[in-house]
Amino acid sequence: MVRVDKLNGLTIHDILTGIMLKKKQIAVIGAGNMAEAIVSGLLKKGIVNASQICATDVDAQRLTYFRKTFKVRVSHNNQETAMSSDIIMLSIKPQVMDNVLGGLKLSGGSGQLIITVAAGVSIATIISGLHPRARVVRAMPNTPAVVLEGATALAGGPGVTTDQMKVARAVFEAMGQVVVVDEPLLDAVTGLSGGGPAYVYLFIEALADGGVKMGLSRAHAQLLAAQTVLGAAKMVVETRAHPGVLKDQVASPGGTTIAGLHRLEKGRLRGTVIGAVEAATLRCRELGQEAMVSRESSAISRTVKRTVA
Ligand SMILES: NC(=O)c1ccc[n+]([C@@H]2O[C@H](COP(=O)([O-])OP(=O)(O)OC[C@H]3O[C@@H](n4cnc5c(N)ncnc54)[C@H](OP(=O)(O)O)[C@@H]3O)[C@@H](O)[C@H]2O)c1
Repeated sequence: MVRVDKLNGLTIHDILTGIMLKKKQIAVIGAGNMAEAIVSGLLKKGIVNASQICATDVDAQRLTYFRKTFKVRVSHNNQETAMSSDIIMLSIKPQVMDNVLGGLKLSGGSGQLIITVAAGVSIATIISGLHPRARVVRAMPNTPAVVLEGATALAGGPGVTTDQMKVARAVFEAMGQVVVVDEPLLDAVTGLSGGGPAYVYLFIEALADGGVKMGLSRAHAQLLAAQTVLGAAKMVVETRAHPGVLKDQVASPGGTTIAGLHRLEKGRLRGTVIGAVEAATLRCRELGQEAMVSRESSAISRTVKRTVA
């Protein structure tokens, strides 16, 4: 019997995802870097058509870029675009979130799914800016989404149905791997996979510097370093083996690798990396609290102004 895993380059999972997203209109509010990763991922995977997507932005150049590059519809009108969509992707910066939410004027009874990627903006904030019955999924993706190797964590808000969660999952699975967590854990996700690419770039750079120190050309050293990280990551993801087990397989008794590993342990690599994730998580919590305080104080000053007027 012939096993069919792929059809026209699409996996069975991609096809099922396509069926789920078929006919869904997607509004992408804020056509910036993250929106670009999301739109290019969805289109490259072929699980939605360009005609299903409408991107909005205040910047005409970004809209022209989206229209020409992805052939999607574009608009300056957030509200009109959101009203006629099934999925509303909020990919604006946290600083403009309040303004954008205020302008959307959603009714709340339409069953639309709101997906936000804004770092540090809670589901409660989105709901309070939109409608008490708004169905919100908060996502924390990372930049390798651009090359369809993103790592995204999702948290569902009150009232989000299993089907809506499946839809949100499908959107981000088009760009890599997805996990679902409780909302408070998104700070830890930010500390790990949000900042993670930067930590790994540093490691790749250092690995390449080591090669250059030992006589390799910069070009060769960088390629070997990056491909080694890519290959090792793929081994962990595909074999699902514990990294410690894979490490032991490379380190032969009295050999070269164990000599290198010993040096990394002396430099406290493990403790330093754990500390980096902890520091980034704590900073994320701090920023979240600062943003909440500033939102509360601007809400109070708006109320005072209205009362005085
Ligand atoms: N980039 C990442 O790695 C990453 C990772 C995880 C989460 N995120 C989150 O993703 C969100 C977007 O980040 P980004 O890096 O894509 O930012 P970005 O490139 O600045 O994109 C945001 C876009 O929204 C536009 N915009 C501003 N006000 C608007 C409005 N009222 N209506 C519609 N569009 C408006 C901006 O235009 P102007 O530039 O003209 O203001 C900009 O083009 C952020 O909330 C961030 O926290 C990003």
